[in-house]
Parts: sequence; C-alpha cells; structure tokens
Amino acid sequence: MSLLAERVTARFERHRRLRRTPALRRLIRETRVDPASLILPVFVDARVERPEPIASLAGHARWPASRVEEIAERAMRAGIGGLLLFGLPTAKDDRGTAAADPDGPVPRALRAIRGADLALVADVCLCEYTTHGHCGVLDADGGVDNDATLPLLAGAAAAYARAGADVVAPSDMMDGRVAAIRASLDEDRRGDVAILSYAAKYASAFYGPFRDAAECAPAFGDRSGYQMDPPNRREALAEIATDIAEGTDLVMVKPAGPYLDVIAAARERFDVPIAAYQVSGEYAALQAAAARGWLDLERAARESLVAIARAGAGPIVTYFALDAARWFRER
Ligand code: PBG
Repeated sequence: MSLLAERVTARFERHRRLRRTPALRRLIRETRVDPASLILPVFVDARVERPEPIASLAGHARWPASRVEEIAERAMRAGIGGLLLFGLPTAKDDRGTAAADPDGPVPRALRAIRGADLALVADVCLCEYTTHGHCGVLDADGGVDNDATLPLLAGAAAAYARAGADVVAPSDMMDGRVAAIRASLDEDRRGDVAILSYAAKYASAFYGPFRDAAECAPAFGDRSGYQMDPPNRREALAEIATDIAEGTDLVMVKPAGPYLDVIAAARERFDVPIAAYQVSGEYAALQAAAARGWLDLERAARESLVAIARAGAGPIVTYFALDAARWFRER
C-alpha cells in the first residue's frame, strides 16, 4: 500500500465491519418486530355462511361469526398478539342501530372466541352500519352530528364489552367519544375494558380497499369534516392529548407508513402505548406490485413493518400479521 493510501484508510470509520455476517447484523439490530405485538384485522359478516374472499385484500375474507374460531386458532398458533374485529350487519339504517345489536356479527364473534389467549379488540364505528356510510348520524343539513353520535358509539362499545372484548377501539373521530365510551363502560361495570382510540386518524386515500371489504364508503361527500387533514402533525398531538385526558388507554396513528413522523412525535411526547395501523391501501399496494413481479413481497412488507416499529409504534395492526409472525422469527 502506498503511504498515501495507508494514511487515508486509517482515517475513516469502518461501519461495514458490523455488517459482515448475518450473526453480526442480528447482534446489533436496533429494532425487532415482535409477533406478539401484531394485531390482525378480521371482517365478520352476518350475511355469509362461509368465508368469502375479499378481492382487494389478497388472502383475506369476510367470515361468518360461526367460523371466526378458525382465525383465532391460526392467530394463536402464529403467536400474534390479537384480533381487531369489524362487522358487516344484515341490515343498515340511517342511525347505524345495528352497531349496538347484541346479536350483531361482532358480539357473536366475540362470544365465540372470548377467553382465547389473544387480545380481542372491537372496532367501534357507525360507518359499516349506516345506509349513508358516514361514521356518525346526520344532522338536518347532511353534516355529521358529533354529539348525537356519541350515545350510539357508547352503546356499541358497551355491547362489545359485554360480549367479551378486552379493548374497544373507536375509529369514528368524533370529539368526546372517549369520554362518552369510558362513562358508559364504567356505568355498566366494565371498568376493566380498555379503550384504544384511533386518536390521529387521517382522511386518507389509503382506506380504499377496506371500504370495499366493509362496504362503508360514504354515499356522498367524504370524511374530511371529521378525519384529520394529512398535512397536520401538531394537530395529531393535540388529538392524542385530548384522548388521554378523556381516559383512553392506548392511542393509534393511522395510516402508519405515510405518517411515521407522527408516530415518532407521539412516542417522544406521550407515555401511553402508541399503536399504528398499516391500513388496507398500504397492504394492497405492496400486494399489487408484488403480483406484477415489481417487488419482493416478503422483503418489502418486512421493511414496511420494521419502519413502523422503528418510528416507535408498539402494537401494530396489519393485514400481514399472520405471515409476518413467521417472517420475523429470525432463525
Ligand atoms: C371505519 C374504519 C375505516 C378503517 C378502519 N375503520 C375506514 C374509514 O375510516 O373510512 C380503515 C382501515 C383500513 O383501510 O385498513 N371508520
């Protein structure tokens, strides 16, 4: 080596030393995705007798409550942390009454799997149950009436708690719903049922495939009057602070991948668990690209989940949960 080359090589850092072997890379890995922190979304459909595949969500189906046990078993075998249940009722009305029906799809499914070694989370929202597809009831001008919606959400949450939900997860973005739900649970002597609020839920284009799956696209207008405006980060922190003050136990940022900065900021500021929801469009986009051979599904999906964990999310809701549990078992 020339004298010059020797002097140069002595002077720079050799970051590559610790990337040399798989063992070294595992040793210094800063972020791990623990299968136990993954939550699988499950659609329970009161109108079907067998699992009906969802075209926009490869590998997912709408399940009859009578067979949700099969999913719970798969989830336990995979070692994932929990299930997040969504319901599709037999009939809808303009007030979303079926959301609180004790014999609706979600309560039935919960009764079938209560006691399983999984965190059972029930999504609380009216949009799957209303004819107009909005997340709350409408006022005379066709706007969503915040305060008139609160008792309906509280009623739905109570029905899921009675059926065996460990956690109820309001995703409607009405103001005051955490307080309303907490009060209703406590009054019903369900003080031990937790609330996971979708505190920072953005009006996102990435919910497209879900709205197909859950048949809950708004019949007119959009959700920007209640879901958050994508450019806003500080507002997310204000939403989270409010929900914590109202008594939420965990908070969620949604979508996940396009909002990693929000997850990181929330993690920095608050001490409650910060969950993140890798939504249907994030999943479907990777699936579609992989189906065309444009990217490697496992590697891309793993990278997307690691990024969400690295940003600071604890529980992660993802349609990849079952596969990811296998991928992240390292050896
Ligand atoms: C219902 C709800 C939605 C999602 C979860 N709960 C749809 C929406 O707000 O339009 C989206 C989940 C996903 O896209 O995977 N309020």
